[in-house]
Amino acid sequence: MLVSGQSSVGTGTALICLLSAFSALFTPAVSVKEHDFKKCDQSGFCKRNRAFADHALGSGHWQSPYNILPETKSFKDGQFHATILKTINNNGDAVKLPLTISFLESGTARVTVDEEKRQKKEIELRHDSKARKERYNEAEQWVIVGGLALDKDAKVGSEDKSQITVQYGPSSKFEAVIKFSPFTIDFKRDGSSQIKFNDKGLLNVEHWRPKIEKAEPEKEEGEKGSEEKKEEEPKGEDESTWWDETFGSNTDSKPRGPESIALDIEFVGYEHVFGIPSHAGPLSLKQTRGGEGNYQDPYRMYNADVFEYILDSPMTLYGSIPFMQAHRKDSSVAVFWLNAAETWVDITKAKESKNPLSLGINARTTTTTHWISESGLLDVFVFLGPKPHDITRKYGELTGYSAMPQEFAIGYHQCRWNYVSDDDVKDVDRKMDKFKIPYDVIWLDIEYTDDKKYFTWDSHTFPDPIGMGKQLDSHGRKLVTIIDPHIKNVDGYQVSSELKAKEHAVKNKEGNIFDGWCWPGSSNWIDAFSPAAREWWASLFKYDSFKGTMENTWIWNDMNEPSVFNGPETTMPKDNLHYGGWEHRDVHNLNGMTFHNATAHAVTSRKPGELRRPFVLTRAFFAGSQRVGAMWTGDNQAAWDHLEASIPMVLSQGIAGFPFSGADVGGFFGNPDKDLLTRWYQAGAFYPFFRGHAHIDARRREPYLAGEPYTAIITAALRLRYTLLPSWYTAFRQANVDGSPIIKPMFYTHPGEEAGLAIDDQFFVGNTGLLAKPVTEKDKLSVDIWIPDDEVYYDYFSYNTISTAKGKKVTLDAPLDKIPLLMQGGHIFARRDRPRRSSALMKWDDYTLVVTIGRDGKSAEGDLYVDDGDSFDFEKGQYIHRKFVLDAAAKTLSSTDGEGRDPKSIKEGQWMKKMREVGVDKIIIVGAPASLGANKEVTVESEGKSWSASVEYTPAAKGQAAFAVIKKVGSRIGADWKVVFA
Ligand code: NOJ
Repeated sequence: MLVSGQSSVGTGTALICLLSAFSALFTPAVSVKEHDFKKCDQSGFCKRNRAFADHALGSGHWQSPYNILPETKSFKDGQFHATILKTINNNGDAVKLPLTISFLESGTARVTVDEEKRQKKEIELRHDSKARKERYNEAEQWVIVGGLALDKDAKVGSEDKSQITVQYGPSSKFEAVIKFSPFTIDFKRDGSSQIKFNDKGLLNVEHWRPKIEKAEPEKEEGEKGSEEKKEEEPKGEDESTWWDETFGSNTDSKPRGPESIALDIEFVGYEHVFGIPSHAGPLSLKQTRGGEGNYQDPYRMYNADVFEYILDSPMTLYGSIPFMQAHRKDSSVAVFWLNAAETWVDITKAKESKNPLSLGINARTTTTTHWISESGLLDVFVFLGPKPHDITRKYGELTGYSAMPQEFAIGYHQCRWNYVSDDDVKDVDRKMDKFKIPYDVIWLDIEYTDDKKYFTWDSHTFPDPIGMGKQLDSHGRKLVTIIDPHIKNVDGYQVSSELKAKEHAVKNKEGNIFDGWCWPGSSNWIDAFSPAAREWWASLFKYDSFKGTMENTWIWNDMNEPSVFNGPETTMPKDNLHYGGWEHRDVHNLNGMTFHNATAHAVTSRKPGELRRPFVLTRAFFAGSQRVGAMWTGDNQAAWDHLEASIPMVLSQGIAGFPFSGADVGGFFGNPDKDLLTRWYQAGAFYPFFRGHAHIDARRREPYLAGEPYTAIITAALRLRYTLLPSWYTAFRQANVDGSPIIKPMFYTHPGEEAGLAIDDQFFVGNTGLLAKPVTEKDKLSVDIWIPDDEVYYDYFSYNTISTAKGKKVTLDAPLDKIPLLMQGGHIFARRDRPRRSSALMKWDDYTLVVTIGRDGKSAEGDLYVDDGDSFDFEKGQYIHRKFVLDAAAKTLSSTDGEGRDPKSIKEGQWMKKMREVGVDKIIIVGAPASLGANKEVTVESEGKSWSASVEYTPAAKGQAAFAVIKKVGSRIGADWKVVFA
């Protein structure tokens, strides 16, 4: 079978790999074939809803046909129930839509709309389909892990024939004004509107209707229909995609007919909206209804294998999180659209003046979004902030916080498609050591397998995987092998025969095992929605089943959108069937997460009693994937603009609750020149997930091959990452407890600074005060960093004080060997300064603390979180969390338990006991006033003892801040201690 369309490029690579004789001749095309992916007007339901919007917004007298039946309403225990009636024609026919509005203890509100007929299964499916009749109502089971307790204190504030007002949230500061006719909701905070539902009247629930066979109308496509048009079918709508829909060579049979849902959500007075990753565009999302600089198409979320994606585009990518945060000066609000079907979001912004005579002066901008999903429930969560952090925390309460990673996973990963043999792997490993380049993990792409049969090894090229694994293990390194969800459909391959015999595969619309084309050729796909399939999947990873793997082997899940080379838009037909009878259309965006989940579960249960955190990288993802592992941004290119685009993409992941993210360092396709490669390593050292990766046709580019001075500069970037690992790990912990992004954009850290709200090329690392702005432009030898506040900033490397004012930009020299990195005054962060080959080898090293004195000699504060980096013992209190405070007035620097725990209350396990040997080596105080450095010695007090440590003080000179270094501090990192300067 030959593949078609977009996939022919990607698959072309695969096929040519199969036909190795030609591989040398193959050069990939340079950009995605956009026409292989739908635009809104090629996606029936998107086009219909846009037309609906055009009609409603253009008509001047549009009245939304959705009204709450007042006699159906009730409010009890934090929940409002009612039936919405959708009027469908002039005869008074109507469709019943059950509505539930839940007010949650967290202050979040949830609005759910179902359709009675489908809910009661009173519909007929066409084509003898075996699909479920209901609207998909199980997304919640996959996504929501908590935070659903109802706010019993929510109360009706006022009520009359036309509306009801519910007060809820902290101190009842939030209010939902629910109007009945037409149905709208106005969410208010402190009495003023923040978010409005259906204010523009774009709510649209395509109800079930039987197909009425009629003679083909003699009209052109898009021409207007009959005169007695139903109210919800504005002029211009055509029914041609209601019953089936063809794109390329695939026809979607749509057994349930049209069933989309749509709603306008207005962010009142909010100019910026962020989120809905993954898209390759700016962090502050653009308008999508045309106009200069805007997109023509809505942002799309339909997980897809978008080969060589284009930049600055609303096109869908590999994963989706339908969470959007709106921000204006000092206020953030957000929505989470819990729907796993194909979804489009239009964004428009308009200046709105309260005073019609003000001619737009002082007018504020309101952003209106129009959300459109192909099927499923309308299920939306509303967060009223007011701080960005309130929102990420509450969103995390619902969908879960980032998993604590394996500690090695935040080190550097060396990958390429492919390391060709176990000797090759061992050789790279040795060379990295020879060049003293730190790394933690080496990766194997699909070629390690026997003929793309996962769970097997190519015995010619990888005769001794255990020997390879042991060499890596000898210096604490790991191996990651790829395992994809497509299983080669071939006789004599046990995984395939079991998949089929046990019925664990996704089915086609006829209910037979679906067969499609991927790397191995003809393939079947595990249906990870099925609990039995997931258990079977877990059995495949046992050490005695996946032979050649050992405790330091971890997994990479790729192609799990799923990628199907000969499928529509390179994925599965929407009428395929999953466990429980759900159509693929309903669950598409969840698919990758269920597989990622199944693999993570599998690697945690490889050996009875082995309780270790999984490490599994995924390409496809959805809301909730953050609980499972890491993601990367897919197949980028070795080009400067792709390096630049990676930063807003990674930032966007962070504010949508999935911060463990990174882009392929060096660019996947093509060959970066040495400057680009070097700059990419410098940027990559600031991605939460830091991996170099390259396409099979790309030239080898392990850091030691770059030659001098590049190798040394790249090594320095890697070492910077490694010295800062304690601070990165602390930032990961913060994400784990409250959903904080790991790298933070300016709007997040400085929500009151309007000039910074759209800045997406510089960021802070956790709470360290480290402000980075990687160079992403060719030949650029300086950068302009925007300074968000009145704090003092120091250059990380030179300790030069940055002299500029809040809101101004400062130009920093950035020759190739320099990463623009500032330290904001007022922080204390931890490092481990001795360079070693892997993070595991640094595990018992002493710490360096860096203190940056704030403006006016102000005090400084910081955190350190440490645990064993591997097990779940941290959940039982086996961790060290220190809070450091420099009190400049009292002339002390102290370390106490970050959570006020009494150390005696913690029963120390093995790891904590060993940590007793780990101490604080030195403390560097940047910007140290002479009063802190005047004495040559300080007193250290800890655990009932005191001793002195020497101080080396360097006075300020030529722009460089004064700094003091306290040497051989000698206190235990886990103990309370105090340095007394006087
Ligand atoms: C596609 C992935 O995006 C890429 O990283 C990988 O190298 C290839 N598949 C081959 O597995």
